[in-house]
Amino acid sequence: MEADSQNWILMVTARAPTNIAVIKYWGKRDEKLILPINDSISVTLDPEHLSATTTVAVSPSFTSDRMWLNGKEVSLASERYQNCLREIRSRGKDVVDEKNGNIIKKEDWQKLHLHIASHNNFPTAAGLASSAAGFACLVYGLAKLMDIEERYQGELSAIARQGSGSACRSLYGGFVKWIMGKEKDGSDSVAVQLANEKHWEELVVLVAVVSSRQKETSSTTGMRESVETSELIHHRSQEVVPKRIVKMEEAIAKHDFQSFARIACADSNQFHAVCLDTSPPIFYMNDTSHRIINSLERWNRFEGTPQVAYTFDAGPNAVMFVPNRKVAGCLLKRLLYYFPPDSSKSLSSYVIGDTSILGEIGLKSMVDIESLTAPPELQKGSSHSTYPGVIDYFICTRPGKGPILFRNEDQALLNPKTGFPLESS
Ligand code: DP6
Repeated sequence: MEADSQNWILMVTARAPTNIAVIKYWGKRDEKLILPINDSISVTLDPEHLSATTTVAVSPSFTSDRMWLNGKEVSLASERYQNCLREIRSRGKDVVDEKNGNIIKKEDWQKLHLHIASHNNFPTAAGLASSAAGFACLVYGLAKLMDIEERYQGELSAIARQGSGSACRSLYGGFVKWIMGKEKDGSDSVAVQLANEKHWEELVVLVAVVSSRQKETSSTTGMRESVETSELIHHRSQEVVPKRIVKMEEAIAKHDFQSFARIACADSNQFHAVCLDTSPPIFYMNDTSHRIINSLERWNRFEGTPQVAYTFDAGPNAVMFVPNRKVAGCLLKRLLYYFPPDSSKSLSSYVIGDTSILGEIGLKSMVDIESLTAPPELQKGSSHSTYPGVIDYFICTRPGKGPILFRNEDQALLNPKTGFPLESS
């Protein structure tokens, strides 16, 4: 490092996706290192619709490590941030900053301070795995800044895991397994990619962001209470999940949607059963979530084979999978029939993401939604209700790719001259 010039700033910007588990992680065997009691499998979602973008910067002019999340400064004091920063710093390499001609020696990473700005392209309050994308992006971005290559497959995922367990799976695109591992130090508790996002390209994902005023129990607290008080969680982790993991891997490898759907729904329902088996019981799903499940199960039963798979994390939002765009159209029609927007909303604010499916099924405006008729699985003449206004919005998306580095400085969230957040970030 050149002692005379203190004004240089080196920074990189990266983007990392969120992921949704189809075999859930719930329960830790080590709280500090974040080691799970079972393997889990997730689908990475398209970062165009659901991702975190993070700029990490280093400069001798920075006086402490600082972070801004969605424009607001947040504390880095928590053990989770500190563990990630320590693990990454200890692996830093000599870096030549070509722009400014500086050389950062690997030992300098211990002394130099970092500025971090991160932004989610979806509302954090929507209860969509923002910490998974956030920690994955932080670790990936810092690894790029410090020129760190993995010494073993999954090394970076083992660092992201220490920020938030599910974050380890966001380091890969497509279909990802988090192997629980056996080692005490957690070095073998890593994520591996089962197949990339191109493997099952026809799959369509629909997220229903369900309105909720209730403050939910965090995953961290919820799973701790489940491990301490639920009997079912131990049966699940020891007997049920190992078999499901094998079957789910097979279903993904063979594009077997029926098995995929059956296992994903059963696993989501068992995870919520574990929550109910916890003392005091934890309720993540609400009435709207239950109504979504009812309508999807009714449709699946009517058709005789699963048309749609659903899964719910630690909140009321539904994530639904369908095998192709045609079935996605059928699903959207049903959802918009049962759960129309309240009258203040426009169709373009109610269905976001890849909205081209709407056009394919002839839905162009609110008038088209109002004229939707009851789906055939509702018996003629039987009384049923529709529920306007209980869903905030839908996101149409698909399996997506893993983290990327932005080459272009336009994407940066920190001012390259000052190292402080840009207005818009
Ligand atoms: C229900 O990864 O948020 O989404 O490791 O304590 O940070 P911590 O928990 P977190 O838990 C995610 C739980 C889940 C299921 C899953 O993603 O596998």
